[in-house]
Amino acid sequence: MSHSVFKVLSRQMSTSLSRHRPVKYLAVIGSGLMGSGIAQVAASAGQTVTLVDQTDDILSKSVGSIKKSLQRVAKKKFADDPKGGENYVSDVLAHVKTSTNAESAVSNADLVVEAIVENLDVKRKLFSSLDKAAPPHTIFASNTSSIPIEDIAVSTQRLDQWGGAHFFNPVPMMKLLEVIRIPQTSDETFNSLLEWGKSLGKVTVQCKDTPGFIVNRLLVPYMAEAVRLVERGDASPRDIDTAMKLGAGYPMGPFELSDYVGLDTTKFILDGWHERFPDNPLFKPIPMLNKLVGEGKLGMKTGEGFYSHKK
Ligand code: 3HC
Repeated sequence: MSHSVFKVLSRQMSTSLSRHRPVKYLAVIGSGLMGSGIAQVAASAGQTVTLVDQTDDILSKSVGSIKKSLQRVAKKKFADDPKGGENYVSDVLAHVKTSTNAESAVSNADLVVEAIVENLDVKRKLFSSLDKAAPPHTIFASNTSSIPIEDIAVSTQRLDQWGGAHFFNPVPMMKLLEVIRIPQTSDETFNSLLEWGKSLGKVTVQCKDTPGFIVNRLLVPYMAEAVRLVERGDASPRDIDTAMKLGAGYPMGPFELSDYVGLDTTKFILDGWHERFPDNPLFKPIPMLNKLVGEGKLGMKTGEGFYSHKK
């Protein structure tokens, strides 16, 4: 290959890779655990974030939890410089605006990330109205862990500007971002999402729009099998947790992790998959899990799950 042909080809390749608009303005819809975490890491990366939820009261609690998490980060990052730590926290918080009006929040957004309730109809209704309110260049992404991205995207007229951006709890600590493309996702959109993930300091992996993507497809059946072990009386939650931490090097055992992410979340994901794939034994309902959820024992957030977390 001649030198000049090589130069033209490599310029074309780098142009196609760099054909993306960096995210400066981000709208995060839903200020729960995941939405707040996403807002926090984006604000920490210098992006201007508008965090949206239904009431100012919910939003002020979310900003409070972002502040607490930032203080934990600052304690490590500025171990010898408490003043620097305080400035860091207030600088990052200054990048987080809040709004109860999703349409106005997306009016200047480069990217919208949705982290609301896992209900397809609610998500479709939201995106159908955001599609009219957002500028033409805005990319839409969902952090859903259980609903196919394409099923949500079809509520909009910008299928090529769609993707999944699946984060992990706790978002500030977990280094992974799964980026999902649907068949219609353009290369430009996909590259933007990958570059955005990198700008947050995350390592990105790609997956097709399949149930659970990579991590949950492996993690949820593993957590389900752990509960089935207990249901059969084969081992106790405590021993299973100890076994997986010391025998497999996991930071938390499956019951600690279930309590951490919420038993309702695990049940919700399993139920959705069971409905779609009733013959898959890995997705079958688990009576013990259903009973705990029915009793409102959802894990750390309610003070009790497989373990008691009451102080
Ligand atoms: N914000 C900021 N810093 C945090 C933090 C947070 N939310 N959580 C932990 N940290 C940092 C702090 O510096 C903390 O020190 P501090 O207590 O003095 O502030 C330090 O981490 C250590 O934390 P902990 O003592 O609480 O405990 P660990 O050392 O075990 O770390 C952990 C906590 C990072 C959560 C670790 O246990 C872990 O990696 N657990 C596995 C989590 C996991 O698997 N997540 C994925 C769940 S699946 C999912 O999210 C998908 C969804 O779709 C269901």
